[in-house]
Order: sequence, then C-alpha cells, then structure tokens
Amino acid sequence: MSNDIPGYNYGDREVARSPLSDEELEQLKSGAGFTEEDVHHLQMAGEVLRDQTEEIVRRWRSDIIAHIPHLAKHSRALDGGLLPDYLAKSNKRFEQWILDTCFRPYDRTWLDYQHEIGLRHTVARKNQVDRVSSTPEVPFRDVLSFIPVINETMKKYLAKKDHPAEDVEKMYRSWSKSTLLQMAIWTKAYESNESTKNV
Ligand code: HEM
Repeated sequence: MSNDIPGYNYGDREVARSPLSDEELEQLKSGAGFTEEDVHHLQMAGEVLRDQTEEIVRRWRSDIIAHIPHLAKHSRALDGGLLPDYLAKSNKRFEQWILDTCFRPYDRTWLDYQHEIGLRHTVARKNQVDRVSSTPEVPFRDVLSFIPVINETMKKYLAKKDHPAEDVEKMYRSWSKSTLLQMAIWTKAYESNESTKNV
C-alpha cells in the first residue's frame, strides 16, 4: 500500500469519521449479501488488477468521462480549461482505491475512508486536497449512474490473467457488490451536504 500518493491519507487522524456505526456497516454488508467469499474473490481480483490500475483509471477518466461533457467538467477549471495536475493526482488516488477495494479489511478505518472519498466528491471537500478551482460538487446521481461503467469495464481487466470464466464471474460479482456497498456508504457524505442538492 502506498503512502507517497499526494492527498492519500488512509487511516490518518484528519480523515472524516463516517456517521454510520460499525453495526450499520455490518447491516449494509449483510443486505448486499457480502460474505467472506467476496473477501476471498476480491483478493483474487486484486492480484489480477495490481499491475493494471493505471490503465483502468485512464480508461475510466480519460477515455470515457473526458468525452461526456456533464461529467468531464468536474475535473476541469470553471472556464473549462484543463487541470492536468488535478487529474493526475486524483487519478493516483483512484488507482489506490482499486487496490484498497480489493485488499483492505472492510472495518472502521475503511468505512471512514470511504466516507472521506465520498466527501471529496461533495462541496464539503471537493477541490481542497489538490487546491484547485473546479466545480463544487459531483452530483450523487452522476456518481451512481457511472457505477455500471465502473463494473462493466472491470470485467475485461479481470479476464486478462487467464482465470477460468467462472472465477472471472465471481471476481466481477464481488467487485460489483463492493462498489454498490461503497455508494451506500457515500449517501451519508451527500446527506451531510443537503443544502447543495441542486448543484
Ligand atoms: C462511480 C463511482 C466513482 C468512484 C468509485 C469514484 C472514486 C474516486 C476516488 C477513489 C477518487 C479519489 C478520492 C481522493 O482520495 O481524493 C475520486 C476523485 C474524484 N472523482 Fe470520483 N469516483 C466515482 C465517480 C465519479 C464521477 C462520475 C466523477 C465525475 C464525473 C468523478 C469525479 C471525481 C473528481 C473530480 C475527483 C477529485 C475530487 C477532489 O477534488 O478531491 N468521480 N473518485
């Protein structure tokens, strides 16, 4: 795990605390049907994805989001100008998120960091880590509607190391459960910013 990524501060004291309790985290896991088997398949996925994270994030952000104007604007200056440094630094944290999703235990520290990442998409913390002037918030509906892309594109990368199709399917399913679980956690970050609902 990397500590030399700018703005990546997993487990640090200044990370926000999720308003969800440990018990509520367990409830979310059980609601999503997230079990030890998923933990196992996510670790398997992590081994497969470990050396592909840069390519995956480039695909999501430079190949896909960059061509969808209402999404692309969130990584740009308010006048539409490019902010390459912002993109590059947040890309690194996005790459690390893939590894964290696969390898970190889903405990209190992980829950709090998911809340922190959620907040970094909202008016509470967006732009602050990289000290940029960009849109104040990525609307939650746009984050949520990107989940099928995050999941679907992953399938191809999970299949790249010649695992049997059924293992690829299991890794894909566990990955998909996890992304949805994380979105459920992020709802709390957006709830704490009710006043910006119309951004
Ligand atoms: C689908 C679910 C999504 C996931 C899992 C996700 C994940 C992440 C992660 C891990 C980071 C780095 C957070 C950090 O450590 O600072 C990040 C940052 C960012 N994401 Fe997302 N993202 C998602 C959707 C989107 C969408 C749809 C957009 C825009 C269209 C977007 C725009 C951004 C921006 C602008 C940042 C930098 C935030 C900042 O200013 O700190 N994300 N995202």
